[in-house]
Amino acid sequence: EKAGYDHFMLKEIHEQPRALRDTLRGRIDDDCRRAVLDELNLEPGFVKNLNKIFVTACGTAFHAGVVGKYIIEKLVRLPVEVDIASEFRYRDPLIGPGDLVVVVSQSGETADTRAALREAKSRGARVVAITNVVGSSIAREADSVLYTWAGPEIAVASTKAYVTQLAAFYLLAVWLAGERGALPGEEREDLLRALRELHHGVGQILAGAGEIAALARRYHQRHCLFFIGRGLDYAVAMEGSLKLKEISYIHAEAYAAGELKHGTLALITEGVPVIALATQPELFEKTLSNIKEVKARGAEVVTLTFQGDHDSEELGDFRVYLPPTHPFLAPILTVVPLQLFAYYAAVYRGCSVDKPRNLAKSVTVE
Ligand code: M6R
Repeated sequence: EKAGYDHFMLKEIHEQPRALRDTLRGRIDDDCRRAVLDELNLEPGFVKNLNKIFVTACGTAFHAGVVGKYIIEKLVRLPVEVDIASEFRYRDPLIGPGDLVVVVSQSGETADTRAALREAKSRGARVVAITNVVGSSIAREADSVLYTWAGPEIAVASTKAYVTQLAAFYLLAVWLAGERGALPGEEREDLLRALRELHHGVGQILAGAGEIAALARRYHQRHCLFFIGRGLDYAVAMEGSLKLKEISYIHAEAYAAGELKHGTLALITEGVPVIALATQPELFEKTLSNIKEVKARGAEVVTLTFQGDHDSEELGDFRVYLPPTHPFLAPILTVVPLQLFAYYAAVYRGCSVDKPRNLAKSVTVE
């Protein structure tokens, strides 16, 4: 049932090109002008007058929500708040009938996410669920469902579900932008076209997994690692860090690159590995200066970026180049090397990859 792979996690990582295609199928029209999301069932009047969007979820699904916030705010120009479900449900959130709440859950059974959904509904907000399990509790209770078609995810560490949740957010954002006239047609088209082709890029990264395994071999005995980035890269850094902690038990932290000098830089000493994500053109120079900042303290830096005309020496000790795509879609690519890194680090450490200690696949109690 592992189809020849050593672990479900590795199988699921390799299923991502397929999962992405399945999630996008039928949801981008032929000439890439529109996202087709009839299942949302949101009336044009509601969408036009939308007040605010809230995203709430746990763990990896929450990290997808953080990417979702950046995407929706950028494309739709509506304010988006993103909250961990166990926080949202108890913070007496200021939501009402003009708001849309997006809950994200692979399993559709997570207790806190389900409670957050109920909280949102009881206050009159509309709830859209992004979930992977047809007929799950969250799918049944939400006003509408945007299914991810990742297929069953068995490994406790979520991988292909995350990538398909990101795809769902891109579709949702482009759809909302279309309905609200918030994005020029050509920009929508550029994004949808690139999104439709993105599974090739994911496949290319998977074909180069050996390079990532070598980095994991180099760092698997370290006690602590940092992931840094800005904007969308910061959001993905959070997921990379969780993945590593969850299955390899190496302590990791994700940091907004600009925040380092407000405290964390104190922990950057000789030989500390820092994985820097630098995919966003408008933030590139800023992240580059943070790379210099940690290098100056002796960090060993691995930088994930797109090929460009910059001096590769400046980009740290090791570079992982991503296949070209629309930079706004980078999260779907960047996370893949981070998943592979966590996977191989866990394997080299002899960890129980598919069933890490203390964790369950589905958290149905508070
Ligand atoms: O099924 P859900 O998406 O609601 O699960 C949420 C989290 O429990 C889950 O993403 C967890 O963080 C994963 N083990 C992370 O890999």
